[in-house]
Amino acid sequence: MYKEIAKAKFAKLQKESKTRDIYILGIESSCDETSIAVVKNGREVLSNVIATQIEIHARFGGVVPEVASRNHLMAIDSVLDEALAQAGKTLDEIDAIAVTYGAGLVGALMVGVNYAKALAYAKQLPLIAVNHIKGHISANYLTNKELQPPFVSLVVSGGHTALLKIKDYDKFDMLGSTTDDALGECYDKVAKCLGLGYPGGVKVDKRAKEGVDNIKFITHEMLPGTYDFSFSGVKTQIINYVHKLKQAGDNIPVNDICASFQNQVIEQVVNKSIKASIKDKSKTLVVGGGVSANSALREKLEKAGLDNGVKVYFPQIKLSGDNGAMIASEGYFQLISGKGLALLDLTPAPNINLKSERRREKNI
Ligand code: KG4
Ligand code: ZN
Repeated sequence: MYKEIAKAKFAKLQKESKTRDIYILGIESSCDETSIAVVKNGREVLSNVIATQIEIHARFGGVVPEVASRNHLMAIDSVLDEALAQAGKTLDEIDAIAVTYGAGLVGALMVGVNYAKALAYAKQLPLIAVNHIKGHISANYLTNKELQPPFVSLVVSGGHTALLKIKDYDKFDMLGSTTDDALGECYDKVAKCLGLGYPGGVKVDKRAKEGVDNIKFITHEMLPGTYDFSFSGVKTQIINYVHKLKQAGDNIPVNDICASFQNQVIEQVVNKSIKASIKDKSKTLVVGGGVSANSALREKLEKAGLDNGVKVYFPQIKLSGDNGAMIASEGYFQLISGKGLALLDLTPAPNINLKSERRREKNI
């Protein structure tokens, strides 16, 4: 019964989106943020409540999956209440529920997915399954109201690093990706080896501003002739460098290591992204994911964009990390493309990546 109602409502909403406002509730719980948002027409954030668990996990030096799941469970009811209250909406005024179903920690995803299914069933609303990585790209539709595909996209998060050609809201091609660590993961590991703690990226970024790029870690172009990346080499070099200094009892120039690492790694990322964007007819680059908050990435990409005639877009800093609004936005653009409808048998897909997402898009 629910299946037929959800399918009919989904098709009706797709049609109605041309003539009336559509309100989507977005639920995100893939890692250590429990977030629920209400977004109008995929572009306007009415509320975006984020309950972060950073302090809880910091003492362990990283996210503890079981602890994350429990905290999602404890937070999710009040996050929903607050998201609806801030938006000035009730559940009866919501048109569809969008939820992150992957990638992420299985137990953490389970909380959001089950909660979304329960809400969808209780209110007989369509459920839209959203890939977290695509959500990060859609954060840009919320920040940059005029932005439309086609464009080239650089996704840099804790779990993914990729260059994509976004052909339409529901169509993309992979240009390249990391062959080992993700950029955010590399930042976190460098931070850990320097004793900066969790979460590492923002700390390395801060220390880099106090230091000088005077240690050569990257001497060659990364995987030349491709749009692929590799970060494990530079990470290992830094770990070895710090280890040797420690063994010799020497002082560790933390700020200079951060500045050198950040400058050199970001230069590689900027060069490849700009190269791909110059080649593309759109001459537009859209950046998404937690590392899109990085100050050097923003500064260098903006400059390279100006120098090369490429328009560069970033999400607002508060939308670059994990949040429900980006999931609601991506859910909306799936809905208007007639994609992404999930039913009550939806289960988390912890390891989904962009290649599997492409296969899914083709099948639906
Ligand atoms: O997108 P995100 O919030 O979660 C995932 O989907 O993985 O990204 C988190 C990643 C972490 O690795 C974090 O260290 C990194 O983004 N990050 C940064 C900065 N802010 C967050 N990395 C470098 N510079 C920053 N300012
Ligand atoms: Zn993320």
